[in-house]
Amino acid sequence: MLYRSFVLRPVSLRLLVVAIIQFFGFQLPSLSSELLYREINLKYFSQVRPLIEKNCLSCHGQNTLNPWYRDLPIIDGYINSHIEEAKSKLEMGDGFPFKGNGKQTDILWSVVKSIELERMPPFNFYLMHKKLKFNKKQKTFLLNWFKKTRLILLKEDL
Ligand code: HEC
Repeated sequence: MLYRSFVLRPVSLRLLVVAIIQFFGFQLPSLSSELLYREINLKYFSQVRPLIEKNCLSCHGQNTLNPWYRDLPIIDGYINSHIEEAKSKLEMGDGFPFKGNGKQTDILWSVVKSIELERMPPFNFYLMHKKLKFNKKQKTFLLNWFKKTRLILLKEDL
């Protein structure tokens, strides 16, 4: 009797320690990325999203723009399929993590490039919405923020 409890105790203690390590080992990465996204989203929703609301999210998010030309019969179909395509490639409306191709850092890289090179919004968008074009200050702010956020996510391999 004395002998048994002597042997069993250290074994079960060791099992418990292993179980705890395994539990946290598996849980911590997803928990910390969730917290990280939550932290990033605070700034995204308060300062970044309002800026890109019309310029980007009218295609890559909820339909925030409802211009009159949408109601023209042929254009209506054209614009809507265009938006469907845009959304299937990239969705930024609900914050982080963004839905798109590859890791968050890949997505952010293509977002940075498309703003930097003014590849987005597509050319014809500004024919209709010239007033929406980012000014220099907005462009710099957005580029800095997306680049900084990308570096943070890169460290976490996200
Ligand atoms: C008028 C609709 C429209 C607007 C506004 C728009 N986009 Fe796009 N975007 C598209 C379409 C359509 C595609 C897919 C075809 C392509 O890549 O050209 C796309 C593709 C992209 C891609 C590449 C996604 C991939 O993985 O292929 C990125 C990044 C992107 N857009 C970023 C932006 C950003 C940033 C803005 C705002 C500055 C923006 N877009 C505004 C329509 C739009």
